Amino acid sequence: MDTITFILALVILAISARLLFAGNYPNAPPCIKGWIPWFGAAFEFGKSPLTYISHARDKYGPIFTVFAAGKRLTFVTLHEDFRIFFMSKDVDFEQAVQEAVHHTASISKDSFYKFHPACNTLIKARLAPGNVAQLTDHLCEEFNNHLEMLGDQGTVELNDLVRTVMYPAVMSNLLGTYNSPGRPFTTEQFREKFVIYDESFEYGSQLPDVFLSEWSSSKQWLLSLLRNMVVKAEDDQKSSDTANRTLLQHLIKLITDKFLPNYGLLMLWASLANAVPITFWAVAFIVSNPMVYQTAMEQINTAFKDQDTRKTRVTSEVLQQMPYVKWCILEAIRLRAPGAITRRVVRPLRIQNYIIPPGDMLMVSPYWAHRNPLYFPEPEQFKPERWEKADLGKNVFLEGFVAFGGGRNQCPGRWYAIMELQLFVSLILFKYELSLMDPLPQPSSLHIVGTQQPETRCKVQYTHR
Ligand code: HEM
Repeated sequence: MDTITFILALVILAISARLLFAGNYPNAPPCIKGWIPWFGAAFEFGKSPLTYISHARDKYGPIFTVFAAGKRLTFVTLHEDFRIFFMSKDVDFEQAVQEAVHHTASISKDSFYKFHPACNTLIKARLAPGNVAQLTDHLCEEFNNHLEMLGDQGTVELNDLVRTVMYPAVMSNLLGTYNSPGRPFTTEQFREKFVIYDESFEYGSQLPDVFLSEWSSSKQWLLSLLRNMVVKAEDDQKSSDTANRTLLQHLIKLITDKFLPNYGLLMLWASLANAVPITFWAVAFIVSNPMVYQTAMEQINTAFKDQDTRKTRVTSEVLQQMPYVKWCILEAIRLRAPGAITRRVVRPLRIQNYIIPPGDMLMVSPYWAHRNPLYFPEPEQFKPERWEKADLGKNVFLEGFVAFGGGRNQCPGRWYAIMELQLFVSLILFKYELSLMDPLPQPSSLHIVGTQQPETRCKVQYTHR
């Protein structure tokens, strides 16, 4: 054997040993490695990640690591350990998501680390409860217009209905009108591209574009839309004062590099990806449950008094008169909470008797956390009244509720999400009598990023009141 072959053999042996024994750390939690080097448990995990997490917890205990596609994902499932996940200085949000941000929005690493902290602060401030109340009137107008387009009666797939109304209304409310100069497009075209982008977002966040050609072309379409929207927003900015600026216009002031439209795309995705499926579930849970439907209707009819069902005005004060509807929204969020949220371990991290090694992706599953009967008795039941105990007047959720994450990177859009959902649900129920034509779907267990999509289609019949 000549020297070069010998060295090559040594290198290959070293790499194989590294891949084969990856995950052997003293005092680390039990690790599920699978048997294929590098891929590890990726195939089994990828088939149905939500179910996999629950089975692994039953088999390996409350803290365990899944070695998949070269990554160590360490799941923490006990509520008492969530504080470490959210508050420890030994874990980092930006390092956990940077690669995914690069793949999904083509933002360079340097740009992300430079602008993300200020971006987060800006969104948090713009969507604080006081500012959210100012967005209600305009959003209500948008919902009115788009809901009226449904006509007097018909049958439609509920998910399609929600998307058709919410996509343009929320975009216009947060980012401004999207009919950019010289490039008008239809809502249907946007819906088609965004659904492809959203549905494969989880794969897109891990794989290079070449493996996902349809997804990649939808991403490019959306990016070019955002470029045009930025031009329009810059033009409009000259004539609008600071108080009336859209979120996109605020971003323009903040982000000074060429990736501005890419941040716009991320913002657009964050504002629609979780809230739209939850709107579907909230309507479906209410309408499929006669007692809940009746209680919600009584409250909506009292709050809206004798308003016109064609042009209904809902202010933030009116929303406050419908606590039961808000409980329904929060209960839908609890039951369909994101499959997992993540941080990267940057220094050895002690949890219980384990030491989690740096480099691990630390994971919490809000979806499973919300099924702990100690915090949520009869966890699978849709029980809006459990929210009566939460101090919502002080913006405090129920103990154990982690759908919006926590700590410095807790969802900055949470107050907006609750407002838009309460507004949409009360408006559609006030305007239309609804009945489901299909059984309530199961949630899909295919993804762990974000809230769940329905597994099957669900038609709804509507008649204008
Ligand atoms: C029911 C709807 C929603 C749910 C369940 C949800 C959930 C989440 C979660 C779990 C995170 C990560 C938090 C963490 O890791 O600790 C997050 C981040 C984020 N959310 Fe939401 N979200 C919702 C709606 C919205 C809306 C409507 C907006 C915008 C208007 C929004 C904007 C964002 C942004 C910008 C981030 C990233 C924050 C950062 O980079 O630090 N979200 N959301």
